[in-house]
Amino acid sequence: MGKSDLLLELYSNLSTTGALAFSSKALVNKMLSFTDMEHAKLVVELGGGDGSITQGIIERLSPEGILLVFEINSSFCESMRKQFPQPNVRIICDSAENMDRYLAGKKADYIVSSLPFIILPKETTDEILSKSRDALSQKGKMVIMTYSFHLKRLFRRFFTHLEVKFTFRNLPPAFVMICH
Ligand SMILES: C[S@@+](CC[C@H](N)C(=O)[O-])C[C@H]1O[C@@H](n2cnc3c(N)ncnc32)[C@H](O)[C@@H]1O
Repeated sequence: MGKSDLLLELYSNLSTTGALAFSSKALVNKMLSFTDMEHAKLVVELGGGDGSITQGIIERLSPEGILLVFEINSSFCESMRKQFPQPNVRIICDSAENMDRYLAGKKADYIVSSLPFIILPKETTDEILSKSRDALSQKGKMVIMTYSFHLKRLFRRFFTHLEVKFTFRNLPPAFVMICH
């Protein structure tokens, strides 16, 4: 799938993608600057989409580090499977709310999310956030990009520590929330 096909897929599925553009390189760099991917053993990405954040994670992850990417859109999954054939990367075409089935008790060092929480059903959001909190290792962090500052209150229900950052270098400008 070329860049224009990926964008068309994004626009055609607004009710589940919740975005008009993919994350910029600047936003990806900002999100990942709050992680130490080089030393991570297990990383989970929620909402892989076109793979823009996936690419950033893979560039930093060691070959021993495992990356699980959850994505519900089968076209995006197919495209990412071609783009990322690395043996330590697994593209899972399933909802992030089922992450516990794939983690089987393993704890993640980082969970990186670009899910459109603002449009997801409340039960789905609660399930994903509660499972993410439970899936993190003791020193683990969840890094979330969002366009809505108000989601901070939602994330606070699940995490005791929350830091908010912002970048203009994305369309639209975005918040990065670091939760643990
Ligand atoms: C805003 S796009 C982000 C795409 C890309 N990661 C980026 O940063 O540009 C959100 C992605 O989350 C996916 N998504 C939505 N609900 C999901 C769910 N419950 N589980 C997994 N992926 C989901 C959508 O299909 C879409 O690809």
